[in-house]
Amino acid sequence: MANSRGGFTNKIGFIAAAAGSAVGLGNIWKFPYETGANGGAAFLLIYLCCAFLIGFPVMMAEIALGRKTGLNPYGAYASEGNKRWALAGLFGVISGFMILTFYNVVAGWAFGYFLQISFGDLLSAENFGAFFGGYVADYTDNMIYSILFMIVTAIIVARGVSKGIEMAAKVLMPTLIFLLILLIIYALTLDNALDGIRFYLVPDFSEINGKTVYSAMGQAFFSLSLGMGALITYGSYVSKNDNIVNSAVIVTLADTMIAFMAGMLIFPLVFSQGMEPSAGPGLVFVALPGIFQSMGPVIGKVIGGAFFLLLCFAALTSTISLLEVPVAYLVDEKKWNRKRSVAILAGSIFLCSLPCLLSQGAVEFFTDFMHYEGSSKSFLDLVADLFSEIGLPLGGCLLTLFIAVKWKTSQLSAEIAIGYPSYQGSTLEKYVNIMITFICPVILGVMFITTLLQKFFNVALF
Ligand code: TRP
Repeated sequence: MANSRGGFTNKIGFIAAAAGSAVGLGNIWKFPYETGANGGAAFLLIYLCCAFLIGFPVMMAEIALGRKTGLNPYGAYASEGNKRWALAGLFGVISGFMILTFYNVVAGWAFGYFLQISFGDLLSAENFGAFFGGYVADYTDNMIYSILFMIVTAIIVARGVSKGIEMAAKVLMPTLIFLLILLIIYALTLDNALDGIRFYLVPDFSEINGKTVYSAMGQAFFSLSLGMGALITYGSYVSKNDNIVNSAVIVTLADTMIAFMAGMLIFPLVFSQGMEPSAGPGLVFVALPGIFQSMGPVIGKVIGGAFFLLLCFAALTSTISLLEVPVAYLVDEKKWNRKRSVAILAGSIFLCSLPCLLSQGAVEFFTDFMHYEGSSKSFLDLVADLFSEIGLPLGGCLLTLFIAVKWKTSQLSAEIAIGYPSYQGSTLEKYVNIMITFICPVILGVMFITTLLQKFFNVALF
């Protein structure tokens, strides 16, 4: 696209950026602990169904709506619908902002772990669980790293779509995959690795309940970067000749494959060290240092440092996409220039992330902020639940409703067919249309209500 908004240089550029957005802490940090806390293989299975059956059509719809309108989510809904529908887009813009307030904190931990492993003495700790608890509670380091992370994200987004977002993703993604494969091979040779694989791959269906299902759906949306218009925004930079179906297939496959691989790494490790798979958000930060420690002081520092550095890179291509959504909103709707929008947003997101940062043991008020789902929740838990677990399925529900009743699937098909003429009349088209018109709005709506009721009102519908 030759206008002032910028655009991806070609299809590979878009795929790299969209896959970069999808692959992040969601795959390597969140997916393993969600799987561990929700029964293992049964969760994996439901997650895969959510990603391919529901996530994939929604992804195509987001990209198509973005490309058709060439606008941010708010503008896209407004131009194809009206001001009232645009509120759904605005909700997406706000969600991008809010998700970043906690995402950036966790990315800061990953960065701190990289430094502590490579240049500090983290690997000589005796108890990694205790180390992690102490680490996140000490907010000074965390604050510095999360500021740094935000600054790097801001610089890349300020450089624009092709020179910043696209280039970063093209280099970082292949390196991450390579290192993951190496570590998996190593992990599989450890004692009791097979118990981990069994937990991860042999389903026990008695483990499935309402919470398993809505957690899997929330995880699929979070991991694929769906439900808040990140892909509407990236879609707006895609050229008309590109094949949306093809791109969406590659991004969905890449994302689920990396999440799957993260599980293949973490569960053998967890079981070989006799840890509990349901340890929660600290799982990766506690399970991984053990294997690096066992590699000996020199190799452990190199491989361990490289792993956490790459985790930072994976997180970076995701923070970029999260920041790009509100930036595109200010650029398109308020006519601000890109640099000014980036600076103001990055600053405000950082300030708003402070309660999350302080909620991991530093300040009691934020740490023990609320009580729901039978346990005490921190401020970070609350923001993640509201804007990710609940907000993303809601955003997906609104998007599919919008297409079903306002934009119409005929327009969706026509937009997809521009870069892929045989789409019209295909079985895939019929499938997508049925999903978007009937199944997705209902399932996602039910998910939204169930999650809300079960989390905050202690009412279990299933
Ligand atoms: N998908 C990313 C991850 O797995 C996080 C992310 C980036 C995201 N952009 C998003 C989540 C947009 C929801 C919406 O880490």
